[in-house]
Amino acid sequence: MKIVTCDSYEDMSSAAADIFQNQLLKKPESIFGLATGSTPLGLYSELVARFEAGLVDFSKSSSFNLDEYYPIKSTHHQSYHYFMEEHLFGKVNFASSRVPSGESDDPKGECEQYDAAIEAAGGIDLQLLGVGVNGHIGFNEPAATYMLSTHLTELAQSTIVTNSRFFAEGEIQPTSAITMGFGAIFGAKSILMLISGASKTPIVKKLLEYKIHTDIPASLLLLHPDFTVIIDKEALGT
Ligand code: GLP
Repeated sequence: MKIVTCDSYEDMSSAAADIFQNQLLKKPESIFGLATGSTPLGLYSELVARFEAGLVDFSKSSSFNLDEYYPIKSTHHQSYHYFMEEHLFGKVNFASSRVPSGESDDPKGECEQYDAAIEAAGGIDLQLLGVGVNGHIGFNEPAATYMLSTHLTELAQSTIVTNSRFFAEGEIQPTSAITMGFGAIFGAKSILMLISGASKTPIVKKLLEYKIHTDIPASLLLLHPDFTVIIDKEALGT
């Protein structure tokens, strides 16, 4: 694991944007694995700014998102389709972008097609990840066993509570999701994880133990040969 520490959220976002920019320079037709959540918002706005300044060009590259609630309409304001469109896809020029469908009436088929599409693209070059306060990756929640393939999963109770802040009172909040499994994530040539904010300090401490905790999905990434974590000061707890 390579660790980069930053003084602020802004510095973390800008360091992450540098990695994206270098990846595009190295391989304009890169396949990106993308994440949602509040953590990558600064990175996405930095990428939009760099795109507008002519510093990055996604026209030859494609993306696959990690996960999507299920069931949810892509037009729902809390769907990850909507989030990505709002913060990135509507503002830059990816050749193609895919997010698992939360609308499919055949989620199993959707998952199989999703993995097949990632494989057909040659796998992911750079996988961006956030991390849940319980150590989840995408929606791979702490469990006794972990799936390799994209799959439909139930969310941990703590995740439902953590994410409830985004849903208005009375609004139905999905308790399941489609998520990439560890196969596609681990298959990525490089993994970039962003960790920001004091709520993530316990997870950072666990990662810095350099141990695999089977109940902390993020710790499995310590086995990946090209795993970079950018951590801001607040998350470090210093
Ligand atoms: C969400 C997403 C994850 C994300 C995580 C952390 O539930 N499924 O992909 O990394 O939770 O989100 P945040 O960055 O808002 O802390």
